[in-house]
Amino acid sequence: MEANHKIRVENLSLRVNGHEILKDINVSIPENKITVILGPSGCGKTTLMKSMNRLTDIYPEMHVRGRILIDEEDILNTHKDVTAIRKKMGLLSQRPYPLPMSIYNNIAFGLRISGRKKRDLLDKRVEHYLKQASLWEEVKGRLREPASSLSIGQQQRLCLARGLAVDPEIILADEPTSALDPISSQEIEKKFLDLKQDYTIVLVTHILRQAARLADHVIFMYLGEVIEQAPAEEFFHHPRTEITRAYLKGSIN
Ligand SMILES: Nc1ncnc2c1ncn2[C@@H]1O[C@H](COP(=O)(O)OP(=O)(O)O)[C@@H](O)[C@H]1O
Ligand SMILES: [Mg+2]
Repeated sequence: MEANHKIRVENLSLRVNGHEILKDINVSIPENKITVILGPSGCGKTTLMKSMNRLTDIYPEMHVRGRILIDEEDILNTHKDVTAIRKKMGLLSQRPYPLPMSIYNNIAFGLRISGRKKRDLLDKRVEHYLKQASLWEEVKGRLREPASSLSIGQQQRLCLARGLAVDPEIILADEPTSALDPISSQEIEKKFLDLKQDYTIVLVTHILRQAARLADHVIFMYLGEVIEQAPAEEFFHHPRTEITRAYLKGSIN
């Protein structure tokens, strides 16, 4: 059965100082699945992900053309406030960036902004999101300690919990395990497999084996272009291009 598409990118090009970083990108991202954006370093994975969240707005030197439809609305050509667009998406970066405050407040911060202020309700929500990120058991006795006292792996799960607390529909994760030890990486990977029931996940990685473990759908990029996109099974077992085959064999990286 054909899945619904949560995000569709159409004819997306992105230039910086006359240099084309993304070249006529056309991709579809199925809802409630894990889509992995795969490719060697420097091929444009992060830039493609940033454009989905309009983080490209921050860089005045970036010129973006094309359409990015999220729930059929073109987020590049809309009068809608960019915060409203970003609210649909939780972002997880390569390194965890917890806010310089307590574990509790890292989660409560966003909840307070969106209007939830009653203490007992806040407590419940904080617990809920920490559980959702599989961190609750490890931190329930030390919620008032600074987030910086956590290990890097715990900090990354805290950032995941913080992202989930704004109630997004999409999770964008850019090499979210690259700073983590193998056990912490496994925890994040396991979490993603659970979360895809309820969220559309876009995961950037250059780790082939991680892609093979997690992907339902693969977008393979090379030098600013999408070379191939396919269901994971097909991508790994029946690659269609010479470049993909070379990449899968490990001769490009
Ligand atoms: N703000 C920027 N200014 C100039 N070049 C950039 C900028 N951001 C990214 N690039 C270039 O765009 C290309 C793709 O980068 P990136 O999307 O970070 O690749 P990846 O995430 O696949 O490693 C690289 O050549 C990088 O140097
Ligand atoms: Mg990158």
